[in-house]
Amino acid sequence: MYAFAISDVIYCLHADIQTTDLFEGIWPIKDGVSLNSYVVKGDKIALVDLVKDWSQAPKQIAEALTSIGIDFTSIDYLILNHIEPDHTGWLREFRALNPHCEILSTDKGCKLIKSFYKIEAGVRAVKDGDTLDLGNGQTLAFIETPNVHWPETMFTWHEASGALFSCDAFGSFGALGERVFDDAFADEEIAFFEKETLRYYANIVSSFSLFVEKAIQKTRHLAVKLIAPSHGVVWRKNPQKIIDLYVKYASYAKGPAEKEIAIVWGSMYGNTKAGLDAVIRGIEAEGAPYAIHRVPDEDPSYVLADAWKSSALVIAMPTYEYAMFPPMAYIIDLFKRKRLFGKTVLRIGSFGWIGGAKKEYEAAIEPLKWNNLKSYEWAGFPSEEDLVALEACGRELAQSVR
Ligand code: FEO
Repeated sequence: MYAFAISDVIYCLHADIQTTDLFEGIWPIKDGVSLNSYVVKGDKIALVDLVKDWSQAPKQIAEALTSIGIDFTSIDYLILNHIEPDHTGWLREFRALNPHCEILSTDKGCKLIKSFYKIEAGVRAVKDGDTLDLGNGQTLAFIETPNVHWPETMFTWHEASGALFSCDAFGSFGALGERVFDDAFADEEIAFFEKETLRYYANIVSSFSLFVEKAIQKTRHLAVKLIAPSHGVVWRKNPQKIIDLYVKYASYAKGPAEKEIAIVWGSMYGNTKAGLDAVIRGIEAEGAPYAIHRVPDEDPSYVLADAWKSSALVIAMPTYEYAMFPPMAYIIDLFKRKRLFGKTVLRIGSFGWIGGAKKEYEAAIEPLKWNNLKSYEWAGFPSEEDLVALEACGRELAQSVR
């Protein structure tokens, strides 16, 4: 891999991660993910963000450095915008290669460097508004952006070029290959990254949407010409596009989101599915767009992405051992953790000899303050009367997203 010139003094280095590992140990990355670092050269050289030893990322970054005539020992300053190990996991090895480099992070970041990596010497805390003069007219400034998505996070700003090094903010899943800039990708490829941006946002950042909005607000006065995140595309042709996407995704936290319905369903023997088919007939009769996911067959990562962007949900699950169908209990727990507020929701499901899912479900969703249209249940296979009622429920839900 080689370095991509952003200007005559700024370079993007990226490591493409292609692995069956899950991101954060939870989220699938079947199309990979990129770990982006950046070099800024003045008289001194700064490296913004590092990598972890994953899919040969240190080797990929080393090769990119070599392509611009430097190596890890040439780095004078290592700026760590965020200490999550995807960007810092290789820090001890880096430190062993380059004991003289000064490491800069926020005060909270320095504490995490100590706790994660037991490194204290040569680590300096920076705070909001501090600057780093690299010489030869190159200055970096630091902007604290706590909780996007860890408390220690910051952006690094290069005013002379208008480049904002935003770490996870404005990031996405998806490996980049031999291109990094938005203008190097075809429209359908950008559409792919948009989908992966939504999934990344819903999986990684969504719980912290209020802080995303604050961080974006804090950079409004800057003349941003390029968004350089630590994952995914570098936005130089249209940086406003990724800013607008993040503003939109953050706004979904308060609802309403898109005028769409996300259907999440699980069924043991087809009885709940028969009821869901009636609901779908109602939704289709009203012409409302919907996405449908079966659990546990489909990964929750994708369920979460569609649920995040939808104004309305259908949750279809049977009772299982006097309680919620276990794969759906996990989905509901994720919805709570990711603070999936502001949804209009229809829950349906079959039970055998006695219910139980309804009671547990209604208690579980209480903190989410959903507009809970109904939790409609029936015994065994749905009767004709049930099917008529369920189709009407589908229509009512569809009308709510008009
Ligand atoms: Fe890409 Fe929160 O680390």
